[in-house]
Amino acid sequence: MDKADQHQPTATRPKDVAISFGLIGLGTMGSNLALNIAENGFDLAVHNRTFDRTEEFLNSAGPLAERLTGAQTLPDLVAALTAPRAIILMVPAGDPVDQQIAALQPLLAPGDMIIDAGNADFNDTRRRVATLAEAGIDFVGMGVSGGAEGARHGPSIMVGSALPAWQAIRPMVLAIAARFHGEPCAERFGNDGAGHFVKTVHNGIEYADMQLIAEVWGMLRDGNGATPAAAGELFERWNRGPLASYLVEITATVLRTEDPASARPMVDLILDRAGQKGTGRWTLIEALKLGQSATTIEAAVAARAVSAQRDLRLLAADRFGPAPGTEASAFDAGDLESALLAGKIMAYAQGFVLLAEARRAFDWDLDLARVAQIWRAGCIIRSDLLDEMADGFRGAGLPHDNLLLAPVFSDLVQQTVPALRRVVCQAVSMGLPVPALSAGLGYFDGIRQARGTADLIQAQRDFFGEHGFERVDRQGQHHGPWGN
Ligand SMILES: NC(=O)c1ccc[n+]([C@@H]2O[C@H](COP(=O)([O-])OP(=O)(O)OC[C@H]3O[C@@H](n4cnc5c(N)ncnc54)[C@H](OP(=O)(O)O)[C@@H]3O)[C@@H](O)[C@H]2O)c1
Repeated sequence: MDKADQHQPTATRPKDVAISFGLIGLGTMGSNLALNIAENGFDLAVHNRTFDRTEEFLNSAGPLAERLTGAQTLPDLVAALTAPRAIILMVPAGDPVDQQIAALQPLLAPGDMIIDAGNADFNDTRRRVATLAEAGIDFVGMGVSGGAEGARHGPSIMVGSALPAWQAIRPMVLAIAARFHGEPCAERFGNDGAGHFVKTVHNGIEYADMQLIAEVWGMLRDGNGATPAAAGELFERWNRGPLASYLVEITATVLRTEDPASARPMVDLILDRAGQKGTGRWTLIEALKLGQSATTIEAAVAARAVSAQRDLRLLAADRFGPAPGTEASAFDAGDLESALLAGKIMAYAQGFVLLAEARRAFDWDLDLARVAQIWRAGCIIRSDLLDEMADGFRGAGLPHDNLLLAPVFSDLVQQTVPALRRVVCQAVSMGLPVPALSAGLGYFDGIRQARGTADLIQAQRDFFGEHGFERVDRQGQHHGPWGN
């Protein structure tokens, strides 16, 4: 049993007692999730801060409205449900979640449940679990991936909760989840923050995957002079090979889409300033706390930050111009495909190691093969590779939980890293930014060194701080004869 079970309010729950479901927050995700729940045969009471939205939602729900009850106020919502209740929150992370909990808690009874289905910082989820446990209320952290379409027709769902709470909501969660060959893409990964942690790392990998794709688009556009439509064709072709994935598929569609008003490629009309809501940053913060490398994800988060500093970029572009002294030369399309695949594998490898480390740190029952399995459908990073990743993590333990040491991925990186190296070298020499591809290559080159350069770091640390070092030829801690 997980260590954190001691914080769980309901060590047991009466079996076969139907849970009565409610949902707060009828925005993009909440409204689609509510329709999904209703369509799968569960009655649901819904509430939104602005009642107009609730009315609009019910009016547009068609025959599913029969299963839906609109509640104007929170007391109405709670009154519309019978205990034990499970109320799903689908509101922005942070204060809105705390505000809803504070307003709901006095209305709920021991044995009731609050499910946060938004993207929460798992540290907040752990805190909320502990606080609500004192009132006998189960708090469930449920990561939901798949955007609006996934929420409506089957998302990938990552749950953290006490086991009895999971058992109580499991039928509903499995019913609404995406399916991969008939198997629901939903799982509980441990207590308290486990589900939100897995969702956060999912999003971190998503950031990296998107950045890697964007870097390849940059090389096609600025190195090869490819039009968006021509690049779109290439991505479509790649989507039929080992890169087959939702993100590559939508990239092909996006690049080939024209602005109806001007008939120009849509992508050319979009300001190159990326938004972010925090899950990429949270992944990095946790990687740093757990002493792990998440450099491809860091590169992706940082690239979005640089993209947002458009004024700076305009000034710097004016001051420095393009990299001097190099001829633009076309990238080999096959190399770009392999480089993207290699970069993607590095990002996943780093993400999974982070999950493994969190499992150890928080004593979660977090099965990496199950994570790969439930990411195979419904979520934004779904890809054909995940099936092989699940195989890689299954069975006999993978050394250091590192995907790169699974035979099939060792082979794949041996085949693709040479192209990654050529692409990074060419991009760097042309002054094209490829931070995520470079980070992936740097990570790989780092772990393949039997003899690294931290000998010098250790010597420097001992020199100025008397931190000591281990020697290759003797046991124990030693100090150097510096300055002799
Ligand atoms: N969009 C995605 O693709 C996606 C995917 C996975 C997870 N998520 C997560 O899902 C959650 C909801 O996202 P969304 O895209 O559905 O957001 P959204 O479309 O902006 O909707 C937000 C909802 O929360 C309500 N709300 C906002 N602030 C509130 C407050 N202080 N108190 C009470 N209600 C409040 C809004 O009510 P009003 O109508 O009154 O404004 C609205 O119903 C977020 O945690 C998000 O990170 C989103």
